[in-house]
Amino acid sequence: MTQRKQTSVTVVYNNTGEDHFEELRDVDPATLDFTPVYPLHVATIQEEYHAIVDALNKEGYAATLLNLEDDLSRLLQLCTVDAPDVIFNLVEMFRADTRLESAVAGFYDLCEIPYTGAGLFSLELCQRKALTKQVLLRHGIKTPDYRLLRTPRIPRRHGLRYPLIVKPSREDASLGVEAGSVVYDYEQLAGRIKHVFETFPPPILVEEFIDGKELHVSVLGNDPPQVLPIIEFDFSSLPEDHPAIITYDVKWNPLDLAYHRVHAICPAQLPKRVEAKVREQALQAYQATSSRDYARLDIRLTKSNTPFVLEVNPNPDLTEGVSFMQSAEKTGLTFSQTLSKIVELALARAQKRGRKQAEQKA
Ligand SMILES: Nc1ncnc2c1ncn2[C@@H]1O[C@H](COP(=O)(O)OP(=O)(O)OP(=O)(O)O)[C@@H](O)[C@H]1O
Ligand SMILES: [Mg+2]
Repeated sequence: MTQRKQTSVTVVYNNTGEDHFEELRDVDPATLDFTPVYPLHVATIQEEYHAIVDALNKEGYAATLLNLEDDLSRLLQLCTVDAPDVIFNLVEMFRADTRLESAVAGFYDLCEIPYTGAGLFSLELCQRKALTKQVLLRHGIKTPDYRLLRTPRIPRRHGLRYPLIVKPSREDASLGVEAGSVVYDYEQLAGRIKHVFETFPPPILVEEFIDGKELHVSVLGNDPPQVLPIIEFDFSSLPEDHPAIITYDVKWNPLDLAYHRVHAICPAQLPKRVEAKVREQALQAYQATSSRDYARLDIRLTKSNTPFVLEVNPNPDLTEGVSFMQSAEKTGLTFSQTLSKIVELALARAQKRGRKQAEQKA
């Protein structure tokens, strides 16, 4: 048996809620008032995680799945008794609190268990969209001009140029991003701010709307990181009154018309010079946010093709054929090979750290 075949991996996630994708199983497409383009029966959360475990086993790892189910003793048992060679970290929250995502990574650090993806600092930083934007700006990376509101008030003369987009500053997965999020005048802005404050915890972001192409730029690796083929979104089939954005429904709701009217094109058709600029900005943003192993950057181009980074997503969704994986698969890597690479990156980091510690002791 080779060394790699003996490597144990625990794929760790934390989920206590309902899997709403399960409900989709019973929906008859004929009951919808439009013709769906994509299947309604998307994989459930459980199926997604099992697919990752199966793929890693296929690659020769001894992979198992663990749901923490908000149970600290399971985390303790994992890190102190059943410690695998590496944790494939897919935990996004604890006790429904996304702010505890980074704390779980910190716990792995304390226990000195290697884990995939972003570290504590990067997870914490990228969750704070406004702080991330400050960091990007300090590194000379363009990001839309914005105001961060802690109360639901903004002066009429706020200095930003319409249209604007109003969004929660600490949520992800496009929560709180709807067709009505884009506003064109002060009355709409004030109304939307009131609505978001009633629905989400403060602070909230008001950002200049970048009216142009949307790109998802995935990055894989560390020394050096590699930009994968870029995805561009085709919004041209959306109803006219729907802004060209990826709302929550576009991303996650197969029962909504908009889900079926936005198409991911990979690789994006961009002029060479523009693509080079996008790649450069993506790499700079990856490094500026201390990203590692893999991440996805959401970037918009202005009409004159200037890239603006909207946000950095550490540990992005790994659904086969979607987003990060769609880009990875374009390079010729399979789903399981991509996952294997992510594990190797985490192991290489642990080995490097081990060597350093040995040198310091010597
Ligand atoms: N300043 C902006 N200009 C244009 N579109 C924007 C802007 N900010 C957000 N959007 C649109 O809203 C979508 C969701 O915004 P954002 O990526 O900030 O939220 P999120 O909740 O972190 O999303 P996710 O984690 O699902 O990528 C973007 O993909 C984009 O379509
Ligand atoms: Mg995003």
